[in-house]
Amino acid sequence: MLSKSSLCVLAAAAALCDRAGAAVAGGENKHGACRKTSVAILGGGMAGVTAAQALHNASISDFVIIEYQDRIGGRAQHTTFGKQKDGSPYTIELGANWIQGLGKPGGPENPVWTFSKKYNLTNTYSNYSSILTYNETGYTDFSHLLDVYEEAASGMNIEAGRLLAENLQDQSARSGLALAGWNPKHSDMAAQAVDYWSWDWESAFPPEQSSMIFGAAGNNLTFNQFSDENNLVVDPRGYSAIIDGEAATFLKKGDKRLMLNTKVANVTYSDHGVTVHNEDGSCVSAAYAICTFSLGVLQSDAVQWQPELPAWKATSVQKFGMGTYTKIFFQFNETFWPSNTQYFLYASPSARGYWALWQSLSTEGFLPGSNIIFATVTNDQSYRIEQLSDEAAKQEGLAVLRQMFPDKHVPEPTAFTFPRWTKTEWSYGSYSNWPVGTTLEMHQNLRANVGRLWFAGEATSAEYFGFLHGAWFEGREAGEQVAGLLQNRCVKVYDGKEMCGARTRYEDLHGTSPLHHYNLLNGWATSSFYASKRKREA
Ligand SMILES: Cc1cc2nc3c(=O)[nH]c(=O)nc-3n(C[C@H](O)[C@H](O)[C@H](O)COP(=O)(O)OP(=O)(O)OC[C@H]3O[C@@H](n4cnc5c(N)ncnc54)[C@H](O)[C@@H]3O)c2cc1C
Ligand SMILES: *[C@@H]1O[C@H](CO)[C@@H](O)[C@H](O)[C@H]1NC(C)=O
Ligand SMILES: *[C@@H]1O[C@H](CO)[C@@H](O)[C@H](O)[C@H]1NC(C)=O
Ligand SMILES: *[C@@H]1O[C@H](CO)[C@@H](O)[C@H](O)[C@H]1NC(C)=O
Ligand SMILES: *[C@@H]1O[C@H](CO)[C@@H](O)[C@H](O)[C@H]1NC(C)=O
Ligand SMILES: *[C@@H]1O[C@H](CO)[C@@H](O)[C@H](O)[C@H]1NC(C)=O
Ligand SMILES: *[C@@H]1O[C@H](CO)[C@@H](O)[C@H](O)[C@H]1NC(C)=O
Ligand SMILES: *[C@@H]1O[C@H](CO)[C@@H](O)[C@H](O)[C@H]1NC(C)=O
Repeated sequence: MLSKSSLCVLAAAAALCDRAGAAVAGGENKHGACRKTSVAILGGGMAGVTAAQALHNASISDFVIIEYQDRIGGRAQHTTFGKQKDGSPYTIELGANWIQGLGKPGGPENPVWTFSKKYNLTNTYSNYSSILTYNETGYTDFSHLLDVYEEAASGMNIEAGRLLAENLQDQSARSGLALAGWNPKHSDMAAQAVDYWSWDWESAFPPEQSSMIFGAAGNNLTFNQFSDENNLVVDPRGYSAIIDGEAATFLKKGDKRLMLNTKVANVTYSDHGVTVHNEDGSCVSAAYAICTFSLGVLQSDAVQWQPELPAWKATSVQKFGMGTYTKIFFQFNETFWPSNTQYFLYASPSARGYWALWQSLSTEGFLPGSNIIFATVTNDQSYRIEQLSDEAAKQEGLAVLRQMFPDKHVPEPTAFTFPRWTKTEWSYGSYSNWPVGTTLEMHQNLRANVGRLWFAGEATSAEYFGFLHGAWFEGREAGEQVAGLLQNRCVKVYDGKEMCGARTRYEDLHGTSPLHHYNLLNGWATSSFYASKRKREA
C-alpha cells in the first residue's frame, strides 16, 4: 500500500503536499480542507466499481468512489413492478438486461457471464427466432424478411472487415446494408420494422447514424468472439447483484470510501492532481481521478471542468452518439398474447419504430404467469414518448396491442411503468453508439487522460461500447494503469502487453482531402478563396 508520504513524494513537484506531508491538491470548503485520497473514482457503476477493485488488487486502498445515487450499479438498474400471485412485486430491469455473448468452451468468456455463474444470476436464453410479425390489421407473416436482412448483414460484416483491414473510408451501416442487398423502401413498413428490430434494437440509433466498420466489428467482437447467445436476466436481486457482489469483495459494509448520494458538480484538474467539488459542498482532492460518467453526462453541462476540456477531448465527447433505449412495461390480468412466443414485431403503417417491439416475460423460463409484456422503442421514438404523460403513453401502447390482437379483449393494464433515460440526471441517455466516419483515433481521444484526469466506462470501450462487459474491461484497465502511475511502474494489460504512463491521444485528426485536392478536377471551383484565406492566416 502506498503511504501518504510516498504519495507526496510523487506529487511533490506539484506542490500538492503541505509541510506535514498531506495532499492538499485543491480548494477548501466550508467544512475545512478537502478530503484527501490517492484516487477519486467518479461514479459507482460497473466501470467505477471495477476500477476500484483493480486498485485494491494492486494494493492501493486509498481511494474514494463518489456516486450520485443512493446505490452502486449505475445503468444496471432494476425496480419492483406489478404483483405476483402472493401479492409481492416482480423485479424488472430498467437498464441493462441481457448478458450478451457468453463464451464457447475453450474460447474467451465474457466476464459478465463469468460473474453471472459466480453469483447464480437467474437468466434464460433469449431466442431471437421466437418471433411473430404483425401490422395494423393483426397477425401478418413477413418473417421471411428477417432472413433477407440477415444475409445482407453477413455480407456487410465481411466488407466492413475489408474496410477496416485496408484502412479504407468508413460508411454508414445504411449504405453497407444497401450495397449488400438490403435496401428497404421508406414506404415498405414491414421491411422498416425488420430493419428496426435488426439494427436499432441493438444500437439504439438507425443504420444511417451508425458506423458500418465499427458496428460490424463490435458485433463480431461480442457475438463471434464470445458466442452468439443473449441471455435475459430475470433475477429478483436484479442484474446489479453481480456488481454488488464484486464490490463486497473489497468494500466493507458502511465503508467510508464509498460516498453515496453525492453529486459531483465541478472538477479541477491538472498534471499534478484533481479536486472534485460536490453539490453538497464537500470536496475531495486526489492525486488522480477516474471519471466513469456516461457519455450523456459528459455531453451535457451537468459537470463543470476546470480548465475546460481541451478541443481534442471535447470533440470526441460530442462526436460519439448517446442513444436512448426505452423499455415500456405493462402487466395485465391475463396473457392474451401467444404465451410460448418471446417476441412480437409490429409494423406501424405510418412511422418506423412506432411501438415496434414487444417482448413477453410471461413466457416459460422468464417470469411465467406474470402477464408482463414490454415494448421497446429507441432514439426519436424514445424522445417522443418521454414527452408524453404516463397515461398518454399507456393509451398509445394499448391501441397498438389492440391492432395486433384484434380478436382479443385487451383490458387496461394492472401495472404500467417506463424510465425516461434521456432525462435521467446521472445518465442522460442509455448507452453509446459509434457514429459514421469516425476513426479509432477519434475514439482513443475519448479514452485518453487529460492530465491526472482519467476516463473509463461503457463508451470508452473501442471493442465493446454499449455493453456492460465493455464497462468492466475499461474500468479494469484504467484502474490498473492509474495504479501503475502511483507505483511508478508499467502495467501488464491484455495478454501481457505493457502500458506505461499517459494514454495516447491525437490532437489533430485529419480528413482525407489535402487542400490541393480542392480544385476544378474535383468539382471545386473556389480553391483560390481558401488558398488566399490560408495565406492571410499564415
Ligand atoms: C436501457 C438500457 C439497456 C441496456 N441493455 C444492456 C444489455 O442488455 N446488455 C449490456 O451488456 N448492456 C446494456 N446496457 C448498457 C450497460 O448498462 C452499460 O454499458 C453499463 O451499465 C455502463 O456502466 P458504466 O460504469 O460505464 O456507467 P454507469 O453505469 O452509468 O456508471 C456511472 C455512474 O456515475 C454516476 N454519476 C453520473 N453523474 C454523476 C455525478 N455528477 N456525480 C456523481 N456520480 C455520477 C451514475 O449514477 C452511475 O452510477 C443497457 C443500458 C441501458 C440504459
Ligand atoms: C481482482 O482480483 C480478483 C482475485 O484474483 C479477481 O477475481 C478480479 O477479477 C480482479 N479484479 C480486477 C478488476 O482485475
Ligand atoms: C450458487 O449456487 C451454488 C449451487 O447451488 C452454491 O454452491 C453457491 O454457494 C451459490 N453461490 C452464491 C454466490 O449464491
Ligand atoms: C427458437 O425458436 C424457434 C422458433 O420458435 C425454434 O424453432 C427453436 O427451436 C428455438 N431455439 C431454441 C434454442 O430454443
Ligand atoms: C466480422 O466477422 C466476419 C466473419 O468472421 C469477418 O469476415 C469480418 O472481416 C469481420 N468484420 C469486422 C469488421 O470485424
Ligand atoms: C465548484 O463547486 C463547488 C460546489 O458546488 C462550488 O462551491 C464552487 O464555487 C464551484 N467552483 C467553481 C469555480 O465553479
Ligand atoms: C398489413 O397486412 C395486411 C395483411 O397482410 C396487408 O393487406 C396490408 O397491406 C398491410 N399494411 C401495410 C401498411 O403494409
Ligand atoms: C381481465 O379483466 C377484464 C376486464 O378488465 C375481464 O373482462 C377479464 O375477464 C379479466 N381476465 C381474467 C383472467 O380475470
